[in-house]
Parts: sequence; C-alpha cells; structure tokens
Amino acid sequence: MPVGDRTEPPDVDAAVDVSRETGSSDPQWSRGGGSSSDPSTDRSRSETPASAGVTPHAAQSVAPVSRETTTSAAARAATLGSEFATAAVETMQDADTPIARELEDQVRRRTRIAQTKVPKPERTRVMTVANQKGGVGKTTTTVNVAAALAQAGLRVLVIDIDPQGNASTALGIEHHAEVPSVYDVVVEGKPMHDIVQECPDIKGLWCAPATIDLAGAEIELVSLVAREQRLNRALTAHLDELGEEAYDYVLIDCPPSLGLLTVNAFVAAREVFIPIQCEYYALEGLSQLLNNIELIRKHLNPALAISTILLTMYDARTRLSAQVAEEVRTHFPDTVLRSSVPRSVRISEAPSHGLTVMTYDPASSGALSYAEAATELALRGEPSGQ
Ligand SMILES: Nc1ncnc2c1ncn2[C@@H]1O[C@H](COP(=O)(O)OP(=O)(O)OP(=O)(O)O)[C@@H](O)[C@H]1O
Ligand SMILES: [Mg+2]
Repeated sequence: MPVGDRTEPPDVDAAVDVSRETGSSDPQWSRGGGSSSDPSTDRSRSETPASAGVTPHAAQSVAPVSRETTTSAAARAATLGSEFATAAVETMQDADTPIARELEDQVRRRTRIAQTKVPKPERTRVMTVANQKGGVGKTTTTVNVAAALAQAGLRVLVIDIDPQGNASTALGIEHHAEVPSVYDVVVEGKPMHDIVQECPDIKGLWCAPATIDLAGAEIELVSLVAREQRLNRALTAHLDELGEEAYDYVLIDCPPSLGLLTVNAFVAAREVFIPIQCEYYALEGLSQLLNNIELIRKHLNPALAISTILLTMYDARTRLSAQVAEEVRTHFPDTVLRSSVPRSVRISEAPSHGLTVMTYDPASSGALSYAEAATELALRGEPSGQ
C-alpha cells in the first residue's frame, strides 16, 4: 500500500441534496441505519475550504453560493430554521463551487445536529478511551466527545490518568504539581470528590486532573493492595455518593501504554472506546490491545466490552486514509462509528488555548465531526448484554 498516495479531490458532483436531507429524522446515527451518503466523503468536502484557507467563520461572511435560485434557497432556509442557513442563502449567488458545496454541507450537518436530541443513558456509561499507540487522538477524542455531550445537556466527567495531563490542559483545568489529582486518588486513597474540578468553559463538564506525580504511580501501585481496583473503587464510591446527580458519562483518558494505570481504567469501565488514526500503522498493535482487553475481561472485569471505535485524522485527499478506514470497518463492522474525524488544523490548535475545539471553533468541521460522533455514540447506547 503506497504511503501518501494521492487521489483526485472528492467527487463534488455527488454533493448531497440539502433539501432532501434536512426533512428526514435521523437515520444516519442509529446503529445499522444510515443515509446513502458516506459521512467520510461528506467531511472530505468540509475540509476543502480549510485547506484553501477559508475558515468556516470566514465562510459565514463570504457571500455563499448555490446552484439553487434565491427563492428556493430562501424557502429551504426557512425549513432549516437556523440563522446561519438564513444568512447564507440570503446572499446566495449563482455559482457552483467547492465553497458553496462546503457551506451547504455544513448547514445540513449543523441542522441535523441541532435537531437531534442526545439521549440520557439509563445509568452512567463509563468508557475508557484507550490505544497503546501514541498520538492517535485519544486525548483529543476524550475531551471533544466529552465537551459535545456536555453541550448537549448531559453531565460528563473526564478522568485524566495520563501523567502528561493533556486532557486536563485541553479542558482548561489547573494541574500543576500542588493540585490534588488522580495520583492522590489511586495511590493515596483520597476520595474522587476532593479532586474533581468543574471545567471553566463548559457547563456540565468536570475533570479529575492528572499531574506529573502520576508518572511515579505505575511503580508505586505495584506494592499496593488491590492495585488494579483502586480507580474503580474510588469512582464507584463517587458515583454512589452523587446518586441522582451522578454523571451520564465518564470518559477516562489513558496514557499510550498498557501499564497499571491503563489496567485501572479498564477495570473501572464497562466500555472501551478506541480511537484509530487513519494511517498505515493504525492496525499494528491493535491485536495486542485486544488481547489485553480479553485478559482483563477474563481475570478482572467480565463486563468490559469494546463498544466504540472512532476513525481519527481522516484525510480525504489520500487513498491511504480511505483504505485504512475500509479495513477497520471490515474488521469491526458494528463497532466503528459512521462519523469519522477529519485531520483539521482547528482541532490541533484548540489545546494551546486551553480549549476543546467545541469551544475554540464550534463552527469548524472538526467540531461538527465530534458533535456527530458524540451524538451517534449516545444514540447507539450501551452494547446489549452489559
Ligand atoms: N483530527 C485531528 N486533526 C489534526 N490534528 C489532530 C487531530 N486529532 C489529534 N490531533 C493532534 O495530534 C496530536 C496527538 O493527538 P492526541 O494528543 O489526542 O493523541 P493521543 O493518542 O492522546 O496521544 P498520546 O498517546 O501521547 O496520549 C496532537 O497534537 C493533536 O492536537
Ligand atoms: Mg493523550
């Protein structure tokens, strides 16, 4: 498989008819259901303007364009009912360009997200976001899916058990050495309640931060009693204490290793959420991860199931991304989300501002993709038999 093999830009003539799409309820995100359009292909269009130097924000002020007449476009805007759509079509001119199609696509996706109610799970869903491969988008996925769920009105806790503390940074949470952290919980036995901080930018989102102290925890845990159970016990006690007020989702951001911290995360969760980067080595090491999860299931946590796989850093310009995506979907047909996340500059910029992309640039295609992924995940619900 040639690395970096380039294909022609996506077939823009196959653009989705917005007027048909917006009237539908939401078949695309339900398990096994789906629209005829390929979300990855849709997103390939979304990234076109970004690569052309046009941000979605800028696009709102640029005169948007469409093949439709102004009259039919205005009628459609009324149907869409969104300010963005109305503003877009009001200034619509007759043109057939990638930017016009990009705008149509964004309007259609935003409208669908706005119209879809994100269901509250019956009980707290505890998900470990894991992949021992580094830099595949675990942290980015954790914080953005968590932010999207919180923005949809759910209560969400992110537990950062990676000594790098990247999730804490992205959520704008203090995590210098003196801050009480997950280290105090798993090593010192402190209650989770004492370390959880509310995210300053997003209502309904909390974080149990990681500090550099956690780097020593792998070694310190070895000699402790019930060393694999420590996070589980602390989290269970915290959820019990919260009662009705308990979180709807708990997402645990793991380090890129299969050490005792990751084992603690697997024991504390019922679901594993694996982000897979759309690149050549994506599947290498995956079998090792699956074996380890099997071992955990056998010896420590029989309830654990791989519930969700998300394709990240999808680059629609490369055939390689499409090939990796296809391979992963073939291997895990029921587990891979239909939504995938494009490679996006806005996503990678957000953490340097202490923000998720959901707050840094909510109109970007990266934010839309994470909102879609979070909605899909919520609509699917916990795998049966849990
Ligand atoms: N969709 C994306 N588009 C562009 N850049 C991305 C995307 N997702 C993640 N990145 C960037 O890729 C890098 C790795 O992402 P991230 O930190 O989420 O991976 P990780 O799996 O948590 O890494 P680690 O294994 O070190 O914990 C970061 O710089 C992040 O900003
Ligand atoms: Mg990380």
